[in-house]
Amino acid sequence: MKLMVNIDHVATLREARRTSYPDPVYAAGIVEMAGASGVIVHLREDRRHIKDRDLRLLREVVRTKLNLEMAQTEEMIRIAEDVKPDMVTIVPERREELTTEGGLDVKGLLPGLKSAVERIKGAGIKVSLFVDPEIEQIEASVLAGADMVEIHTGRYADAPTEREKMEELKRIVDAAKKAKSEGLKVHAGHGLNYHNVYEIAKIPEIEELSIGHSIVARAIFVGLDRAVRDMIKIIEAARRGV
Ligand code: PXP
Repeated sequence: MKLMVNIDHVATLREARRTSYPDPVYAAGIVEMAGASGVIVHLREDRRHIKDRDLRLLREVVRTKLNLEMAQTEEMIRIAEDVKPDMVTIVPERREELTTEGGLDVKGLLPGLKSAVERIKGAGIKVSLFVDPEIEQIEASVLAGADMVEIHTGRYADAPTEREKMEELKRIVDAAKKAKSEGLKVHAGHGLNYHNVYEIAKIPEIEELSIGHSIVARAIFVGLDRAVRDMIKIIEAARRGV
């Protein structure tokens, strides 16, 4: 299983003081050297953390895989066509949210999403759709022409009781199985941390995890290199079943 690290919050710290540091471009090099399989940034419409300049420079320096998270807007599609990340993950976006709050309603937005996916794929970029663990959203993602889905693990991460957590885990397992059986590659992410990642990492159909906040938060105390390595260790242990 691969770990892709979202470095948005390195830029959040920079923007807290509108300084030029810490630079997410430096962070990308460190996470790659620590063993991450890719770097993720979310270029939001309001540019609250990652800026266009970051994306351009990251495209030049990232040697593994650059995943651009973005809303399905004309502006973002043009940026993707121009910058050409290795992959794009289309996410829903609301200005007032603290972070992405749920999966895309692929079923409800199908015609528009389908043409967006077609355009992005036309630029030679793989497309992932960020979806809740629901069978109908997986089926709609196939119709939209996506190469992969990223299953939203936020409800699992935030579940208030163990029972709800287990129910959500079951939904994630079922959605992952369905997606794989439909020929989609399966990723997962949101809200994963050093305490809750193990159960998700055990799911064999999931090939990649997308993790940001918990890694950048731990990096403040132990450094980014160690924070990435610690996460990889847990993921690898889960895969080996130890
Ligand atoms: N996946 C998607 C689609 C996201 O929007 C985010 C947050 O930017 C993540 C994964 C990473 O979530 P977290 O920062 O909670 O690890």
